[in-house]
Amino acid sequence: MKKFLVAVIAFSMSAAGLVQAADTPVYLDSSKSVEERVEDALSRLTLEEKIGLIHAQSKFSSRGVRRLGIPELWTSDGPHGIRSEVMWDEWRQAGWTNDSCVAFPALTCLAATWNPAMSELYGKSIGEEARYRNKNVLLGPGVNIYRTPLNGRNFEYMGEDPYLASRMVVPYIKGVQSNGVATCVKHYALNNQELNRHTTNAIVDDRTLYEIYLPAFKAAVHEGGTWSIMASYNLYKNQHVCHNQYLLNDILKGEWGYDGAVISDWGGTHDSIQPITNGLDLEFGTWTDGLKLGKKNAYDSYFLADPYLEAIKSGRVGTKELDDKVRRVLRLMFRTSMRPDRPFGSMCSPEHYDAARRIAGEGIVLLRNEGGLLPLNLSTPKKVLVVGENAVKMMTIGGGSSSLKAQHEISPLDGLRSAVGDKAEVKYVRGYVGDVSTDQDGVVSGQNLVDDRSAEELIAEAVMEAKDADYVIFVGGLNKSPHQDCEDSDRRGLGLPYGQDAVIEALAKANKNLVVVSVSGNAVAMPWVDEVPAVVQAWYLGSEAGNALADVLTGRVNPSGKLPFSFPVCLEDVAAHVMGEYPGVKRQNENIWDEKYNEGILVGYRWHDTKKIRPLFAFGHGLSYTDFEYGRLTADKKSMTGDETVTFEIPVTNTGKVAGAEVVQLYISDPKSSVMRPVKELKGFRKVYLNPGETKTVTFTVGRDALSYFDADRHEWVAEPGKFTAHAAAASDDIRSSVDFTLK
Ligand code: BGC
Repeated sequence: MKKFLVAVIAFSMSAAGLVQAADTPVYLDSSKSVEERVEDALSRLTLEEKIGLIHAQSKFSSRGVRRLGIPELWTSDGPHGIRSEVMWDEWRQAGWTNDSCVAFPALTCLAATWNPAMSELYGKSIGEEARYRNKNVLLGPGVNIYRTPLNGRNFEYMGEDPYLASRMVVPYIKGVQSNGVATCVKHYALNNQELNRHTTNAIVDDRTLYEIYLPAFKAAVHEGGTWSIMASYNLYKNQHVCHNQYLLNDILKGEWGYDGAVISDWGGTHDSIQPITNGLDLEFGTWTDGLKLGKKNAYDSYFLADPYLEAIKSGRVGTKELDDKVRRVLRLMFRTSMRPDRPFGSMCSPEHYDAARRIAGEGIVLLRNEGGLLPLNLSTPKKVLVVGENAVKMMTIGGGSSSLKAQHEISPLDGLRSAVGDKAEVKYVRGYVGDVSTDQDGVVSGQNLVDDRSAEELIAEAVMEAKDADYVIFVGGLNKSPHQDCEDSDRRGLGLPYGQDAVIEALAKANKNLVVVSVSGNAVAMPWVDEVPAVVQAWYLGSEAGNALADVLTGRVNPSGKLPFSFPVCLEDVAAHVMGEYPGVKRQNENIWDEKYNEGILVGYRWHDTKKIRPLFAFGHGLSYTDFEYGRLTADKKSMTGDETVTFEIPVTNTGKVAGAEVVQLYISDPKSSVMRPVKELKGFRKVYLNPGETKTVTFTVGRDALSYFDADRHEWVAEPGKFTAHAAAASDDIRSSVDFTLK
C-alpha cells in the first residue's frame, strides 16, 4: 500500500512537471550554478538569437529566446515606485487599471534618514512591488553626486557625499535583489546635470573621479552586488558613456571586475562600433534612422541589432564581444526571471504604506525651530492656517521617468487635517499659483489647480487669514515641472519660483508663528530665513506625504533627518558655479559642451569648509524636538599601522523631555599632507535612538581607507603617515568633540 502511494505521488508530481526529468538541459536546471547555465544556454543560441538578446524589443523590455523558453526581460522605472505600464512603442499609458503603486519617498529623503536600515526596508518593499508586477530589473537607484543645486534630478539621488551615498545605496540594492529583481544603479557616471545631458563632455581629473564621483557606484558593485548598471547620457573623454572605454571597460569591468550587465540609458547609444567594443551589453531607447518616435521595427535598427548582425556576417567584426554581452544578459536573467526560488512579491500592502510613511518621517529635516515653535501645540482650540500650492498639489506625478501612478497620495493639507482632527480648524488658502499642470504621459491627478486671481489678491487673502491664526503653515518649494525638480532640464536659479518669497515675507509680518515647509529635492535660497521661526525640509515624500509631514509637525514623530547636501546662501557660494564651468562651454562647430570640473574634490561641505564659506544650512544639519549632549570622543589607540584599525567611542545623552534619534557623524581631517585635502571628510555615521535621560555609547571603527586620498600618478589610494584628527559631530558645522591619532 505504502509503495503504491509513493508511486502515485511520484507519477502525479512528474505529470505536473514538478520533478525535473533526467534530460533537463543544464540551462533550465536550477540546481546547476548560474555560470553553468549561462554557458549551456550560450552554446545553444544562434547568432540571430544572441543579437536578439542585447537590445530592446519595446520601450521597457528586451527579447528572450522563445524557442528555448527563455523569457523576455522586463525593466521598470524606478527609483521611487513601479512605473505604470506604457504602450509597447510609446510613452503613452497602456491604460491598465491594475498598475497603481505605492510611491515611496524620493531618494534625497531616504539619504536624509542617514539610516541604512531604512534603505534596506525601502529596497525590500519596492523590490516586492517590482516582483509582483513581474519586473526583472528596477531602473534605479540613482547615486550621482549633488554637484549643483540647479540639477533637475538631484531629488532622485543620495546627496553630495560619496561616503553617505555608498552606505545608503548598498542596503537598497540588497533589499531589492532579495526579491530576485535586479537593481540597475544609475547613471554611471558623471551625469551631474540635466541641462545638455546628451552633449556634455565632463572633464574631471582622476583624483576627483575616484574620490567623489565613483565611490557610490563601486560600493554598489562590490558591496551591493548590483546585477545591472545603467550607463549615463553624457560624455567623458569625448566618448558617450554608454560606450565608454574608460568608464565601462577599464574601470567598471576591468578594475572592479564587474560581471553584471551594462544597460544604456534610454537613447544614450550613438555609434555603430563603440557599443560593440566599449562595454555596452544591452541597448535601450535608441532613436535611429529617423524612426524617432519609436515606430514599430525601430528596434531592428538599433546599433546592437541588424547593423551589428550585418557587421558580424560580413566579417567586419568578430563574435568575442557578442558572447561576452550575451553571457552578461543571460547572467542577469538567471539571477532574476529564471531563478525558481524567487519570492512572489506583493503590491500596495499595508506594510509598504507603513514603510513609506516611516521612511518619510525619518527623512524630514527640521532646519530651524526658534523658540521651539514646533511641534504644534494643539491643547487649546486653535485656528491653523495652511497656505501654498504644495499643500495640495500631487507630487508623485511629474519629474520625468520617476513619475508614478500612485494608488493614493495624501497631500500635506489632508494629512494635517486628519492629524489635527477636531482639535482645531485647519483653513487653507492658496497664497500663490505655481504650475497648475497635473499630468505626465497620460497619468492625471484629476486636480483642478487653476486660480486666476492676481498675486496681490492671493497674498492679501493669505495675510488677512493669517492675522487671527494661531499657526500659519506655508507649504511651498519646488515641484516636478520642467526647470524645477525635473528630468531633462535644470533649474534657472536658486530662488523659490512663483513669487513665493513675497508671500512668505508678508506672512512673516502678519503672524509670528510661521512655519515654512519646503517641498523640494534641492536646496533653495531663503532670503527671509531670519524672519521665519520654523523651517522644515520636506522633500517629495510619496504616497504618505501628508501623513508623514503631519507626524513631524504635530510631534507624533520627533524629526531625526539630516541634510544629505549643503544649502548654500547663494549660487556664488557653490564651487561648480564659481570654480567649475557649469553648464559647460559649447564647442565652436560641434554640439558638444565641454565642462571642466575645476573645483575638483571640493564639492559641497568640502568646499564650504575649505573656503570658509558659511552655508545657509550645512551638510549633516538637522534639529530635533529634544537635545543631545555629546561626551568626549576617545580612541582605543593613539597610533595605528596601515594594517590596523582604530576604534572611536563617544557617549551621547538625550537631555530633553522626549524620545528622539540623533545621527552622530564621524569626520576625519588630515591636517598636514603633501597634497591638498578637504578640511574634513565624512567617514562614519550612526543613528541612535534615545529615551529622555538615556545615554548610549556610539562606536566607529576606521581603517587606512578612511585616511587615504587617491594618488592619480600612482593610480592608487595612499594614506600618508602622520597626524590625523577624528571629529564627532552633529552636523558638518557642529563638531562636538575631537581626538588626534597617528598613522605610523
Ligand atoms: C532616464 C532613466 C530612465 C529611462 C527609462 C531615461 O530618460 O534618464 O533614468 O530609467 O529614461 O525611463
